Amino acid sequence: MPIVNATEMLLKATAENYAVGAFNVTNFIQMKAVVETAVEKKSPVIIQTSVTPSKFRGPAVFAAVFRAMANNAPVPICLHIDHCNEVDYCKRCADAGYTNVMIDASHHDFEENIRQTREVADYCHTMNISVEGELGTVSGVEDQVVVAADEAQLCDPDLAVEFVDKTGIDLLAPAIGTAHGVYKTKNPVLDFERLATIAGKINGRGPKTPLVIHGGTGLTEETVKKLVSLGGSKFNVSTELKHRLLDTTHDYLVANRDQYDPGKVDKVVLEAISGVIGKWMDLLGSSGRA
Ligand code: 13P
Repeated sequence: MPIVNATEMLLKATAENYAVGAFNVTNFIQMKAVVETAVEKKSPVIIQTSVTPSKFRGPAVFAAVFRAMANNAPVPICLHIDHCNEVDYCKRCADAGYTNVMIDASHHDFEENIRQTREVADYCHTMNISVEGELGTVSGVEDQVVVAADEAQLCDPDLAVEFVDKTGIDLLAPAIGTAHGVYKTKNPVLDFERLATIAGKINGRGPKTPLVIHGGTGLTEETVKKLVSLGGSKFNVSTELKHRLLDTTHDYLVANRDQYDPGKVDKVVLEAISGVIGKWMDLLGSSGRA
């Protein structure tokens, strides 16, 4: 069954200590690159859309194209709505055919975060859709979610256990110092120990609630491997793909000003994005796991 929610593929990744890439796409060429590369690499994969492109193209359109592309793929593929901070839109994406939903109520206080996350989890679970919640806040800009670096809050390990129990979520994104967008420093301060503690408390007696690492763009290979070894099993990458899409398009157009065949642009973009996805699958250790 190629079209799946995120639970089983991430429990397996947690148990076997690798991570599944979760790649944000804004258009169907990027989606095609993700699906084709997953098949080529024999890798499970998660396709994500942020809320703005999802609303712009329509959640049902994204879900329909996803189904058409993923239906015959011999690898497990999940479609995820990323950082949605509106309960109603989470439900709309679930109804439209997304198979994993992230309710990001992390900007609210703890009790309200639990209340909204629980509401989305209860709704989605009746449709076998898995749910990701966030505790603490990830700094930087991800679509409509903007968090200043000095306002970001790391995830408290004890509250993480309570959050998972009270919300019934399937995946937890704990803030541990990674950030959305391009890192302003070469060596961002990440709290590896905090991740290890959270992983121990939640998955120490066997995989229960896989952990999500946000802010993949710009991390060194060594850092990525360390985060995976400490228990991160869903790894989000967005900015790198956006840059590659736009830079590749720009470079092609500058070098080929006499060309008016959009299909040629699609082809170079497809190849460029596939290269990025393949690199991440190898780095995360998901290649060959499907
Ligand atoms: P980057 O844009 O930093 O890769 O982060 C992606 C992300 O975490 C999406 O939720």
